[in-house]
Amino acid sequence: MTALTLQQVPTLVFGPGALDSARAYLEARGILRPFLVTSPSNRLHAAQLHPAALIDDSTRSEPTVAHFEALLATARAFKPDAIIGLGGGSPLDAAKLIAALCLSAQSIHDVWGIANLNGRSLPLICIPTTAGTGSEVSPNAVLLDEAACAKKAVISPHLVPDAAFIDSTLTHTVPPHVTAATGLDALTHCIEAYTNLHAHPLADTWALDGIRHIAAHLVTAVREPANAEAREHVALGSLSGGFCLGPVNTAAVHALSYPLGSRHHIPHGHANAILLPHVFRFNSAAAPHRHAAVAQALGAISGPTDQATAAAGCDRLCQLIAATGLEMRLSALHIAESEIPALAAEGLAVTRLMRNNPRPISHQDAEFIYRAAFHGALTE
Ligand SMILES: [Fe+2]
Repeated sequence: MTALTLQQVPTLVFGPGALDSARAYLEARGILRPFLVTSPSNRLHAAQLHPAALIDDSTRSEPTVAHFEALLATARAFKPDAIIGLGGGSPLDAAKLIAALCLSAQSIHDVWGIANLNGRSLPLICIPTTAGTGSEVSPNAVLLDEAACAKKAVISPHLVPDAAFIDSTLTHTVPPHVTAATGLDALTHCIEAYTNLHAHPLADTWALDGIRHIAAHLVTAVREPANAEAREHVALGSLSGGFCLGPVNTAAVHALSYPLGSRHHIPHGHANAILLPHVFRFNSAAAPHRHAAVAQALGAISGPTDQATAAAGCDRLCQLIAATGLEMRLSALHIAESEIPALAAEGLAVTRLMRNNPRPISHQDAEFIYRAAFHGALTE
């Protein structure tokens, strides 16, 4: 076994009443001037948190570097004593980076990649209103660098928030397609952690648990948005996936999904969902035992061999994703087949994730995976 370092949120509240708990936390810490990053749909929740907060509700999905720099300028002018992120992964990621750079001499371009942040001097509080990204407990933040036409990540222990407040009742108003995409993002975090080249027994427990919660409850959460029990289970699955992001992180599904986001603005979770069964099938050959365990957690019937069980897991994945109603064919999303070589090159360039994949992926393999996703075919 290798050593695993856990850098976790010191204060985590999971359950009903997150906004009340967050309000009490801010008061107990003597926070007087928080800057709050959110999206338009969460303005009412944001207004309840702190009477003196400056609320910026301009962060929508997949924030760009230009948007982030405008937010950072607003935050600096306000001179906040804490940063709050409230919303989906996009406002949370933006809030995390503002907390790290607001009082820093470093620019966003100094800190791309792993462990390049010098520190963080402002308290950071995250309150997710979707279930899936796990950003509220992870050391990762992603922005779209439009100049480079690439999604870029900052990964640093300084991006782990001081406090996270997770209340699945806040997710009841999330529309079905967003519930599906974010929930499948969480499922991808868990599957890519468990089948990761750097998987670890400590993270395996979270990963398998997260797969079970999502596989059993996501479709109900999509179809019955106010089903409190389904929403709780999906939120638990999301948290499990988030716990895996720091110590183990993701692999080829996330790497190959990045160009679909940067070139075509396909939401992160949806892009992962499209690629997940194809990468699962491809990777199964290299690690059949691990993929068979995932298949069992997904609820697939075990076969006579690990390979057969893994294949049943792949079928189960396809059924699950189809039941959420997401479009699974790149061909139906206005992507030209002629683009596949460029997509493959850009996905393979995300080496920080590709190196975690249990099976090496050549350019030809990457094209094969995109082509299978283009046609929605799972035949080899
Ligand atoms: Fe993700």
